[in-house]
Amino acid sequence: MEIQSQCRPLSDVATDWLIIPFAKSGDVDTGVAELDDKLNGQFTRLREAGDLTGKSAELLAIHDTPTIEPKRLLFAGIGKPEDLNRSLLSKALNTAVRKVSEKSGVSAAIAIPANLPDSMSSETFAEVAATTLIVGAQGQDLYRAEAGRFPLKTAAVVTTSAQNEPAVKKGTERGVILGESINLTRELVNRPAGDIFPASFAERVESVASEIGCECEVFDENRLQQEKMGSLLAVAQGSDQPPRIAILRYSGGGPDAPTLALCGKGVTFDSGGLSLKPSEGMKTMKCDMAGAATVLGAVSAIVRLKLPVNIIGLMGLVENMVSGRSYKLGDVLTARNGVTIEVLNTDAEGRLVLADVLSYAVDQGAKHLVDLATLTGACVVALGEDITGAFTNDQAWCDKLLAAANEAGEEVWQMPMSKHFAELLKSDVADIKNVGPRWGGAITAAKFLERFVADTPWVHLDIAGPSFASSNASHREGGATGCMVRTLVELAERYGQA
Ligand code: BES
Ligand code: ZN
Ligand code: ZN
Repeated sequence: MEIQSQCRPLSDVATDWLIIPFAKSGDVDTGVAELDDKLNGQFTRLREAGDLTGKSAELLAIHDTPTIEPKRLLFAGIGKPEDLNRSLLSKALNTAVRKVSEKSGVSAAIAIPANLPDSMSSETFAEVAATTLIVGAQGQDLYRAEAGRFPLKTAAVVTTSAQNEPAVKKGTERGVILGESINLTRELVNRPAGDIFPASFAERVESVASEIGCECEVFDENRLQQEKMGSLLAVAQGSDQPPRIAILRYSGGGPDAPTLALCGKGVTFDSGGLSLKPSEGMKTMKCDMAGAATVLGAVSAIVRLKLPVNIIGLMGLVENMVSGRSYKLGDVLTARNGVTIEVLNTDAEGRLVLADVLSYAVDQGAKHLVDLATLTGACVVALGEDITGAFTNDQAWCDKLLAAANEAGEEVWQMPMSKHFAELLKSDVADIKNVGPRWGGAITAAKFLERFVADTPWVHLDIAGPSFASSNASHREGGATGCMVRTLVELAERYGQA
């Protein structure tokens, strides 16, 4: 989608809705004084009456604006200017965009304040604005005759300051790419398993790759066997849908730069296998490929932004099903790196898929690894539905990821990786078993993955909670969220500068 960036007085913006971010103190000037004059002091009166306070995520609509170009105004509270960050701003603007996108054929614009606090540049502000115009207006309406939300007919980001115009333009361009990439991830995760299975996911990766001009390779079952991916293949074996690995390679950093590998769990449906999930726990398991969809969204943004970095994106795609061919409890698998695994729960399948994907990434010469997976319910118990769990074998690398997440405005919390959790995975018959005791389940899962990354600095992100929202909230649609796309892009940006 195209989003224009414009430089003009707010009274001249021809749009159905002009969204005006409004701070709790009057310090952040959005060009409101000029509008106030033309509307005979209406804002001053609203402020004095306490109807317009600028409190975070407050919304106030003004429908009657005969003396100015915008047909309606929507004030969006952004809280105290000194507290402003990407996360709060994005919540406030998403709330506003969700409101204006309830009808079809609507145009909207967001005003960028002229004098922002030091903590936020007008480029960043414009980026967040553009992203929310795209993400906030996209609902879960792929399969409904009557949509609940409508992509905007046209959208713009407006500055009143000629001096800020170049930065606003740059931020807007970046924000569009981020928004579209987040929506790509969301779309894939929201699609049911009847539409997105390993082969169709891989085809989608191929079509995205050709659109954005990125090298793409897909491994079919034969190739996976040649590559000795015994762990991933075992999970897939109960399904009528053959597995795939989809690989994207992008070398924006040149031949001497290190390669960052992003690996995603792509279980297109997780029934639990023979350790069958109860119906309630299976309902949303179309979302179990969110890790892979996040890798696709992030790589697509990184390529489109032409970041000077070498990236390999690997998506391990399987369906975990029940049949006469399903892998069984007690089976001993041999993973690509030769480690033997005793299967004691077929529902702990994500780690089996990632085991082979991670060792392949190491063999490809990746210098740093990040994996993303809807890996454990235990991580959701520990951190709730909005926070990603991080696990690492290299603190310096994890610190870089945490800093990127902080800048991106996404919440990530580091979890311990104490040695004794590895002891809990000792098997009587193989090198390792695929489940430990119930307690500390997110950590034993991470410890399992650690066996497959050799000495490569690695961060595992468990996104079981934040990747899929159980219901709507005022600032976001229920269903897929596209979490961590922004963080990965920020990380890649920093990786390219190192
Ligand atoms: N895909 C699930 C984890 C999950 C749970 C994702 C909730 C999203 C929301 C994973 O494959 C799984 O089933 N994990 C088991 C591991 C257990 C058997 C050790 C779990 O968390 O119960
Ligand atoms: Zn499972
Ligand atoms: Zn799973």
